[in-house]
Amino acid sequence: MSQGSCCIVCSRGLYSCNWKRSSAPGKRAGCWFSAVSLVSLLSLIWMYICMVTFNDREEVNGEGFGILKRWVNYFMVVIIFSAVLTSYCVLLLLFALVQVALREPLNLHWLHKIFLSFGGILIVSGVALLCTGWQKEWPTIPLSLQATAPFLQFGAVGALTLLSVFVFRGFHMAKEKWSRILIAATFAALAAAIFLCPLGIRSPCLIEHDELPEKPKLIGHRGAPMLAPENTMMSFERSLACGVTAFETDVQVSKDRIPFLMHDHNSGFLLRTTNVKDKFPNEDFSHSSNLTWEALQSLNAGKSFLKADPFRSVSQLSEEEKETARNQSIPSLRQLLDLAKQHNVSVIFDLYSTNQENDTVDTVDAILKSRIDPSLVLWLPPEEREYVNKSAPGFIHVYNDEAVMRKEGGNHLNLKYSKFNSEEIRALPGAGVTVNLWVVNERWLFSLMWCAGASSVTTNSCHLLKDMERPDWFMSPLTYQMTWITVDLVSVVVMTGLFFFQRKRHCLCKRKGAASAWKEKEVFPLLALLQSNKS
Ligand SMILES: *[C@@H]1O[C@H](CO)[C@@H](O)[C@H](O)[C@H]1NC(C)=O
Ligand SMILES: *[C@@H]1O[C@H](CO)[C@@H](O)[C@H](O)[C@H]1NC(C)=O
Ligand SMILES: *[C@@H]1O[C@H](CO)[C@@H](O)[C@H](O)[C@H]1NC(C)=O
Repeated sequence: MSQGSCCIVCSRGLYSCNWKRSSAPGKRAGCWFSAVSLVSLLSLIWMYICMVTFNDREEVNGEGFGILKRWVNYFMVVIIFSAVLTSYCVLLLLFALVQVALREPLNLHWLHKIFLSFGGILIVSGVALLCTGWQKEWPTIPLSLQATAPFLQFGAVGALTLLSVFVFRGFHMAKEKWSRILIAATFAALAAAIFLCPLGIRSPCLIEHDELPEKPKLIGHRGAPMLAPENTMMSFERSLACGVTAFETDVQVSKDRIPFLMHDHNSGFLLRTTNVKDKFPNEDFSHSSNLTWEALQSLNAGKSFLKADPFRSVSQLSEEEKETARNQSIPSLRQLLDLAKQHNVSVIFDLYSTNQENDTVDTVDAILKSRIDPSLVLWLPPEEREYVNKSAPGFIHVYNDEAVMRKEGGNHLNLKYSKFNSEEIRALPGAGVTVNLWVVNERWLFSLMWCAGASSVTTNSCHLLKDMERPDWFMSPLTYQMTWITVDLVSVVVMTGLFFFQRKRHCLCKRKGAASAWKEKEVFPLLALLQSNKS
C-alpha cells in the first residue's frame, strides 16, 4: 500500500469511520466541515482563556469551596476537560483538511457530529458562565494580549499562508467571474487585517533596552502558599528565602481580642485550612469572635494543605518540610510581627471584621506592643484611617483607590493586576507613587508588570519569580516593526508562489479534462451555494 493511500484510509477512517472505500459525498458535508472549523476555533479561544486565567486558579477553587464546602481542584478539572476537547476538535479539523487536500469526500460520522455539538454547547455555556459569574476576570483577557499578541499574529500569518492553498484552489476552480471576485476580496480583506494588525498592538514590553524599569519587588501572598500552608509561620519563613520585601496576610480578632492570621472570614471560615471539623464536630463557627485564642491554637493549620495540595506542589516538598507543614498552627499577628521585625520586612494585611472600630483598636495595639519599626507597617484597611493616623503616626498608608490616595495625600497604591493601565502606572513612579499589584503568579504576567514599571507584586509563587533576571520577552519597537514586516513579506512571497503553482496545476488538470467539481463544491460550501443559486 503506498503512503498516500495509507494516509487516505487513516484520515477518512478517523473522520467518517468509513475504512473501506470513498463513498459519494453526503448531504451537508460542507456545512459540517464549517462546523468543525468553527468549533475548533472556539475551543482554541476557550483554551486560551483557560490558560490566561490560570493565574487566578486559587481564587476559583476558593470560591468553589465557599459554595460547595468541598475541596476539589475545580480549575484543574476544567483545564483538563478543555484540553481534551480542544485536542479532539483540532485533530478532527486536521483530518478534514487532509481529506480536502487528498480530494476525498467529507462525510463526518454521526458520532463526531454528536461530540462536536456537545463540545460547542459546552464552550458556549462556559463563556456564558464566565460572563455572568466571573465578570471581574474579563479584563485579564485583553491584558494578556499585551503579552501574547505579537506571537499570535505570527501564528495567524502562518495559518493564513497554509489556508491560502485551499483558497487559491477554490479560486481557480470557480467558474463564475464574480464568485472569483468574492473569494479574492474576502481573502484579501482577511489577509490585510492579519498582516496589518501589529499597527494596533500596544504592549509595555515594546520598549528600548535601557528603558526597562527595575524588577518589581516581591511580596509573599499569605507567605509562600505553594511551598507551605498559607498564613502559617512556615509559609512566611519560606517566603523569606525568596527575598520578599513584605509579608501579605489577613487579620481577624478572636473572642478574647487577640489578632490572628486567617483569610476565610464567612460561614465555615476555618473549614478550608484547619481541622476544625475534627476538633469541634458539632460547632458551626462563622465568625472570628466565636473562638478564643486558646481554641484557635488547638487547631492544626497544616494537614489540610498536605491533603488538598491546592497548587499541586506538595510532591516537591522534602519529608522534613512535610513534617514541619503537618505541625503548623494558626499564628497570631504578634508572631508574624516578631518575624518581620527580626528580618526587617514589611507587613501588609487586610482586616476582616464586622466591627472595624474595635478590631482596628486591638490590631493597632498589638502592633505597637510588638515594638516593630512603624515604617514597616503598611496600613491597608480603609475604614479607620483617621484613628490609625492619630494613634500610630509612623505607619505607611497604602490605598486601594487612586482618587482617595490623592485626596489624602498618600503615595502608595495597591491594585488588582487587572486594574492596571500601563501608561498610567509608568507615570506614577515619576510622581513618587509606588504601585503594588496583586496577585501575580505567572511568569508572563510578572513580565508584563515588570515592563510596565510596577514597584512590587503580591505573589503566590515568589520561588519562581525570584530567579527571573529579565522579563520573558521585551524588544525595542523598531526591532518588532522589522520583524513583523519581514514575517508578512515572507508570507506574501510564499502565497504568491502557491497561487501560480495552483494555477499551473489547474490548467494542466483542465487540459486533461479531469474535472472533479463535485468534490470542490463540498469543500467550499459557500461557493457551491452561490453556484446552485445561480443555475
Ligand atoms: C458566632 O458569632 C456570631 C456573631 O457574633 C453569632 O451570631 C453566632 O451565634 C456565633 N456562633 C457560635 C457557634 O458561637
Ligand atoms: C507540633 O509538635 C509539637 C511537639 O512536637 C506538639 O506539641 C504540637 O502540638 C504540634 N502542633 C500541631 C499544630 O500539631
Ligand atoms: C531595613 O530595610 C530598609 C530598606 O528596605 C533599609 O533602608 C533599612 O536600613 C533596613 N534597616 C535595618 C535595620 O537593616
